[in-house]
Amino acid sequence: EEVRVFAPATVANVAVGFDILGFAIGAPGDEVVARRSGAPGLRIVEVTGDGGKLPYVVEKNTAGFAAARFLEQLGETDVGIELEIHKRMPFGSGLGSSAASAAAGVMAVNALLGMPATKLESLHCAVLGEQIADGAYHADNVAPSLLGGIILIRSNEGLDVHSLPIPDELYAAVVYPHVSILTKDAREVLSPATTLRQSIQQCGNIAGLVVGLYESDYSLISRSLEDVIIEPQRSQLIPGFGEVKRAALAAGALGCSISGAGPSVFALCKGAACAQEAAKAMGAAFDRFDIPNDTYASPI
Ligand code: HSE
Repeated sequence: EEVRVFAPATVANVAVGFDILGFAIGAPGDEVVARRSGAPGLRIVEVTGDGGKLPYVVEKNTAGFAAARFLEQLGETDVGIELEIHKRMPFGSGLGSSAASAAAGVMAVNALLGMPATKLESLHCAVLGEQIADGAYHADNVAPSLLGGIILIRSNEGLDVHSLPIPDELYAAVVYPHVSILTKDAREVLSPATTLRQSIQQCGNIAGLVVGLYESDYSLISRSLEDVIIEPQRSQLIPGFGEVKRAALAAGALGCSISGAGPSVFALCKGAACAQEAAKAMGAAFDRFDIPNDTYASPI
């Protein structure tokens, strides 16, 4: 008996929702295979696509750690399970790589055992898995990877998570430049303080974005995608960011910002054609800086 699950890459923050907003994209993502084994306990038996970087030790591996916590939550620690982890996306990309592994780990175990828990009930364990990779307990990548769609996390502490509606023609364009930024470093550059003026602008924008999604109001979505707090501090870590953003907006994107902690950059677009154009334009902009890159365009 064996199951194979896929957990997608995600764009966290979505410009104005630092640590509280994220959405899933169609590809890339990670695959985890789970199968029953005669010997009790959880084991990682195969890891591919990681360039030898990921540990086989369950407690040190995001997918393994998440799956182990989930088995504890279910009271199923004696069951024999083998996991295969197939990384199909880059590390340190800002596309939620460790979150996808953690989400896939709990999804695979849940599916193998016949779904004894809802996805929401398994979320806490998946967030714990990602936490061993980046040190912080935040669900803005894990929740959309596990649940799909656009997820608002009102509170990370209590995992008060909510699915937001997705307007029919909302597409994402994403470009991953081949430079590495560690989330930990990208969090350390952030000032712990914001001004009242910044808070007012950011609150207006996140509220505007949520209303725009509920009402399929693309103009409101576009006006709301302006991050006045995080992007100005982090964009310096991404060579060519200003050019890439200008290219996306020139291609007709509704807005453009850093995906998660970077270096990937995303744009939201109305329609598939615009998303393809924006992805191409962003990739070409990185090309001008001699930075190899991969582009993706997908419905949300
Ligand atoms: N919200 C997180 C950040 C996402 O921007 O640091 C990356 O893990």
